[in-house]
Amino acid sequence: MKLAKRVQDLPPYLFVGISRAIAKKKEQGIEVISFGIGDPDIPTPKSVIDRLKKASENPVHHRYPESEGLPEFRQSVAKFYSDRFNVDLDYKTEIINLIGAKEGIAHAPLCFIDPGDIALVPNPAYPVYEIGTMFAGGETVFIDLLEENGFLIDFSSIDTSVAKKAKMLWINYPNNPTGAVANLEFYKEAVEFCKDFDIALMHDACYTEVTFDGYVAPSILQVPGAKDIAIEFHSLSKTANMTGWRVGSAAGNPDLINALMRVKSNIDSGLSQAIQEMGMEALSLSKDWITENNNIYKNRRDKVVATLQAIGLDAKAPSATLYIWTKVPDGHTSASFTEKLLEEVNVVVTPGSGYGTAGEGYIRLSLTIPDDQIDEGLNRLSKFTLK
Ligand SMILES: Cc1ncc(COP(=O)(O)O)c(C=O)c1O
Repeated sequence: MKLAKRVQDLPPYLFVGISRAIAKKKEQGIEVISFGIGDPDIPTPKSVIDRLKKASENPVHHRYPESEGLPEFRQSVAKFYSDRFNVDLDYKTEIINLIGAKEGIAHAPLCFIDPGDIALVPNPAYPVYEIGTMFAGGETVFIDLLEENGFLIDFSSIDTSVAKKAKMLWINYPNNPTGAVANLEFYKEAVEFCKDFDIALMHDACYTEVTFDGYVAPSILQVPGAKDIAIEFHSLSKTANMTGWRVGSAAGNPDLINALMRVKSNIDSGLSQAIQEMGMEALSLSKDWITENNNIYKNRRDKVVATLQAIGLDAKAPSATLYIWTKVPDGHTSASFTEKLLEEVNVVVTPGSGYGTAGEGYIRLSLTIPDDQIDEGLNRLSKFTLK
């Protein structure tokens, strides 16, 4: 039996290697502290769980869901956009429910990419943009995110001949893995660029609600005319500690949303309606709840950055996301420094190179482990000496 080339060509998922390294240490009786995967340790809010309990008893929710999601769920997303971003959306045509943002992100290239077509993908980036393009038979052209540009795309650096052939562009702010944020001016540039070259613009906005120090992240749909060309992906995974429940959405251009709905409806049968109800509850969480939740990450962020700086790394506090992205010391690669931390102080971080070639020379630390583990991890890191 021969595997399809698209499967043969798949790189191992980034965190599989990390899990193996942790398991090996465990076999030796060593407990590692992992700042690896970004998966909130804080429980889903009680009100959201209670909503699931109640919804699960309603037989209406025991049948197949609609692929695009309950009208009530889409209305909740429309209300969120209106209250939070002052953006008007028609829930009937401009919003779709997703089985986590990842599902929509992976399926979107099937809507826009024919074999040989180009997708423009930032580097470093969440790996699914590239893999989705590969599954659709397309070619990924990477655009490097450079620290000197605040990890924003420099649109003038994109070759016009490549832009003319591109069918989609991915952007993601607040950004995983760099923690960078973008303002409306940047989004305006992205919209103009995509309009000039007739490119479908995909904005992954999964971290807009995970912000600190009063920073408020905008939506790309606030840009006048963005809806002509763009859709934006949202997720409740990080906003409301719900990675396990898989609730996301996409909103924007009705033709693009409809294309995603057509692909989805032929592949999956939508998200369990009882879980959509959880999503509706999570979308109504108060601003105070979100600020309090973010404050837990902010305190961790400050401690982690202080320790990294104390051992001589050039770490900076991001104003959003769950990640600290910092350069490795001179003479190291992402992988060699990651290995050194694991070997010498039993601490796991993610090598930046796992997010693309332009992530080489960086590591990422995630803030999603309990405070006692953060403290133990920082205690170990503080004993680490750069040689
Ligand atoms: C940039 C980015 N987009 C999308 C996702 C996936 O979100 P979800 O859990 O809603 O599938 C993640 C998860 O880590 C992410 O970092």
